[in-house]
Amino acid sequence: MTNTAWNEDQARAIIAAHAADEGAMLPILHALQAIFGCVPEAADALIAEALNVSRAEVHGVVTFYHDVRRTPGGARVLKLCRAEACQAMGGEALAARFLARHGLEWHATSKDGALTVEPVYCLGLCATSPAALIDEVPVGRLTDARLAGIAG
Ligand code: FES
Repeated sequence: MTNTAWNEDQARAIIAAHAADEGAMLPILHALQAIFGCVPEAADALIAEALNVSRAEVHGVVTFYHDVRRTPGGARVLKLCRAEACQAMGGEALAARFLARHGLEWHATSKDGALTVEPVYCLGLCATSPAALIDEVPVGRLTDARLAGIAG
């Protein structure tokens, strides 16, 4: 994934394009992250101004949703499910082994910038748990070997 460097004019255009959307905050955050790889704090004031809300409100939404990053993620993003069905199928232990093997913690990016690991809470893939998304592509029935095959 290649991210565009932060550009205030471009950010303003993205925000304006979504400002009239129903519940515009989330579409704006997703659109900014899709282009810049994250929603830097510099975006908060622009969003607040466009939606006529406080910067604190924007900050609250950004920090509430784990999917929204303040800094760009790695070239690949692995989202491992930590919800109940996946836990019941060994997902937590699988994730713990994967993180330990890579010397990573949740929300961290590998030193080479190749991989970011994020937790998610149910992907609707419970029947194939433990499940994950790798670059937004769903994968299920994960094992150590299968996880190593898709994410290193
Ligand atoms: S609990 Fe993991 S996909 Fe539903």
